[in-house]
Amino acid sequence: MTALEAIRWRQGPPASLQLLDQRLLPLQTVYINVGGPSESWHAIKDMAIRGAPAIAIAAALALAAELVNGGGGTQFSSPSAVQEHVKKQMAYLVTSRPTAVNLSIAEQQLTALAAKAASAPGATAASVTEAVVGACHAMLQADVAGNKAMGDFGAKAILAELTARGRSSKAPVRALTHCNTGSLATAAYGTALGVVRALAQRGALEHVFCTETRPYNQGSRLTAYELVHDGLPATLVADSAAGALLAAGRVDAVVTGADRVAANGDTANKIGTLSLAVNAQRCGVPFYIAAPTQTLDPNMADGSHIPIEERSPSELTHDIDGRQVAAPGIQVWNPGFDVTPAELIQGIITEKGVIERLQDGTFDVRGFMASHG
Ligand code: MRU
Repeated sequence: MTALEAIRWRQGPPASLQLLDQRLLPLQTVYINVGGPSESWHAIKDMAIRGAPAIAIAAALALAAELVNGGGGTQFSSPSAVQEHVKKQMAYLVTSRPTAVNLSIAEQQLTALAAKAASAPGATAASVTEAVVGACHAMLQADVAGNKAMGDFGAKAILAELTARGRSSKAPVRALTHCNTGSLATAAYGTALGVVRALAQRGALEHVFCTETRPYNQGSRLTAYELVHDGLPATLVADSAAGALLAAGRVDAVVTGADRVAANGDTANKIGTLSLAVNAQRCGVPFYIAAPTQTLDPNMADGSHIPIEERSPSELTHDIDGRQVAAPGIQVWNPGFDVTPAELIQGIITEKGVIERLQDGTFDVRGFMASHG
């Protein structure tokens, strides 16, 4: 099976960063060469690359590519000049899209790392550059390993929960997922789709339903593409069919990704996630979030503070070929994300374990982070 790769990276020198242009999927596979932060900013803003982990990695590696190909540090007069450059470029990259916290965490981590490397005894511009490039590369590798671990934790948690609810421990799971959280949204394997893959790998997946994910169709274009690629038993449903599917008892568990999880467990994810969670609760189906710890935002007390990206009205008024499909003159509200309250979430699956819901319906995200490094 050929690997689905959203991000192709060679550290070099020369370094090379290629991003799969997801706007053209599923019909065309075209990679864009990205030389530095400006090209990456546009690729993120214009949705050539998307998905919370993939955005952060693409931003960091664009900076790394520019540093390596610009001279590996020789282009800077001092360690502090590299540090300033890293700070400036990451502050710029973080303005591309606001909701996913992964990118701003990457900004904080790389800025802090550059400052530390620049103040180390004997630091040179080359040593600071090397430290930053190494950290960007490590981000890519850690994401793949983390997603595999998340998949295992998630598969186990879902099977245990369904058994506790009275299903046979041998019965395979019928899962429902939203948006795209797979190899295309991460370095590889995926978060929520990684959990689905992990269920399949242990022979515990009966079927997976993926929503269309209007208006940008990440489900029908990207998740469906990944599921067909993997040969998993899968069915595409319109977003508006999900309630009927749940009410018909055809889903055992819902699992989606996240763009930002607040300290109390409130979770921002692709628009439509909230409706799925409400419907799942109404139908007695457990609803899970799968997200790396990098998507946890302990500094945000609850979901009411999460910035929600509003996207172009044309995503609703025009079809993919640019033809007008909505009545001319109609006003449009097109939020890219919504916030699901913690109380609707059964568990938050991370690469370090599952955060369990407390008695009061919230999650102790800060406590989990403190006890899991
Ligand atoms: O607008 P997108 O396609 O970047 O939105 C993506 C999502 O909402 C995903 O569910 C989320 O980023 C998790 S990806 C592992």
